[in-house]
Amino acid sequence: MCGIVAYVGHQEAYPIILKGLKRLEYRGYDSSGVALLDQELNVFKKQGKVAELENALNGTQLKATIGIGHTRWATHGEPSDRNAHPHLSKSGRLAMIHNGIIENYAALKQDLLAKGYVFHSDTDTEVLLNFIDDILVNNNCSLEEAVRIALKRVVGAYVIVLLDKENPDTLIAARKGSPLVIGIGKDEHFLASDASPIIEYTKEVVYINDYELAIIKGDQLLLKNLGNEVITPFVQQLDLELAAIEKGGYDHFMLKEIHEQPHTIFDCLRGRLDMAKGDIVMGGVQQHIDKLMHANRIIIIACGTSWHAGLVAEYIIEELCRIPVEVEYASEFRYRNPIVNKGDVIVAISQSGETADTLVAIEKAKEQGAMIFGVLNVVGSSIARVSHAGAYTHAGPEIGVASTKAFTAQLVVLTMIALKIAKEKKSISPERFQHLMRELNDVPAKAERILANAELIKEVALRHATATSFLFLGRGYNFPVALEGALKLKEISYIHAEGYPAAEMKHGPIALVDDQLPVLFVATKDAYHEKVVSNMQEINARKGKLIAVITEGDHTMDSLTADLIPVPAADELIAPILNVIPLQLLSYYIGVGRGLDVDRPRNLAKSVTVE
Ligand code: AGP
Repeated sequence: MCGIVAYVGHQEAYPIILKGLKRLEYRGYDSSGVALLDQELNVFKKQGKVAELENALNGTQLKATIGIGHTRWATHGEPSDRNAHPHLSKSGRLAMIHNGIIENYAALKQDLLAKGYVFHSDTDTEVLLNFIDDILVNNNCSLEEAVRIALKRVVGAYVIVLLDKENPDTLIAARKGSPLVIGIGKDEHFLASDASPIIEYTKEVVYINDYELAIIKGDQLLLKNLGNEVITPFVQQLDLELAAIEKGGYDHFMLKEIHEQPHTIFDCLRGRLDMAKGDIVMGGVQQHIDKLMHANRIIIIACGTSWHAGLVAEYIIEELCRIPVEVEYASEFRYRNPIVNKGDVIVAISQSGETADTLVAIEKAKEQGAMIFGVLNVVGSSIARVSHAGAYTHAGPEIGVASTKAFTAQLVVLTMIALKIAKEKKSISPERFQHLMRELNDVPAKAERILANAELIKEVALRHATATSFLFLGRGYNFPVALEGALKLKEISYIHAEGYPAAEMKHGPIALVDDQLPVLFVATKDAYHEKVVSNMQEINARKGKLIAVITEGDHTMDSLTADLIPVPAADELIAPILNVIPLQLLSYYIGVGRGLDVDRPRNLAKSVTVE
């Protein structure tokens, strides 16, 4: 899940590529590099963040109107200068960047070693590049043809972009599995893993599909498939503003995105929650309402934070729609040989819409005849293009690696889908339906009130910022919220944190409790409240450092701890959307308190485009 940027046209390529790499740095920041072609083919690369490369190149002659750039998330070969991209071919004619994994690279490498090729890195990318180079040399064909021949023989996922010394005005790019979008300018073209490096130059884009190859000059964009047939590019307009991908005065994208939630939740409800008509209007749901309401089973497939949203949805759909739901880790579902029956509906949840595990899992279920309904944030993403129908979460670009506003938007969309199905199935009363509509409608204002209390949450966070371990506990709808709180803290602070159903503690984890362990309960008022309070007393009895998210005005836990974080009251079914916000802020302030880069946590990347 590296970041790819390239440019060909009439402007200086380096500044455009460098800025683009900074925009894509959330996709990987182990190393970065650029290759520029101006008579000479020059490659510059450096371990670490893009800023390291920029500093290293200060004062270097970087004139060129064509170039490629890459920011890396290491898969094959440790983060280092020599494993950084771009790589140069043995002949020195080609430079290439790659996002993805070539699974059969070891076999290809053996053949090339036998032919006398020498490798300067441990990467699968350098192997693919020299495989192309070898075909080019031995077949005496064009680079385009050599790329086509090579790609028919590789196994894995890729976006590759090549610079060719012998065709100094042309870029060759190809895609399978990893994302690639091409921006069309006046006599110039911009290539990137997503639209964020392109938006400030043009809104006209083409999303490249699997097995497509692009031959790009300043004034030409030629698309072909691996069968050498020409494809007419489908040009789309980007519905994205530059401001959406700027920090907007916040110290970090994560904090900005947490504070955007009252607006993003409102945007998610807008035009769908029709309070006047007392109904929910969602085109994708309406079109397939028959299949959804008569589904034998709903299988939710996702990863990470999106999987936690799926777990909340399981509780909501089973309660409201009385349809059995299973929540599957995509990576396990993919290889487990699961049973998918006709009449099953697959709900794929993904912020990026590019997560490889989720993409390949739903492609497998689709082959078995299931209907795929996508709940996605990135418009035009690969999972959107594979799904039969779906609903976008309209949370806007999420740059911070730790997902925050996309999670609450996912919960809002999943709740509206469940409500719509339940209304059509008459599996809930009209009164309950209207009540939950009003509850949803009140969420943006309540989220605003929680954010207004950020200073208090910061104080609680800093009191626990030196912890070495952390437990998050909840029951019912709040159990997945506890899991999400633990994931956020792990990602942002590197503290080992676990989420658990509160009642599960007695079956083992309570052994972890001592006077050094912070134990956070999501303890808002609901059907489980009394049980949760007694679970807190069990922890208190063992001197655990209690923290609790409580409903405003609830004083039942005043004697147990001073670290109480009040949130506005809400129906237990709606409460997860609100209750997670203090946990997002807690992990943010602990991460910042520990001096960590909360937008680019170590070892992570925003969208995981390799299996
Ligand atoms: C969440 O903060 C992480 N970035 C990660 O767990 C993420 O949720 C997971 O990779 C799934 O991503 P997706 O929603 O884009 O598919």
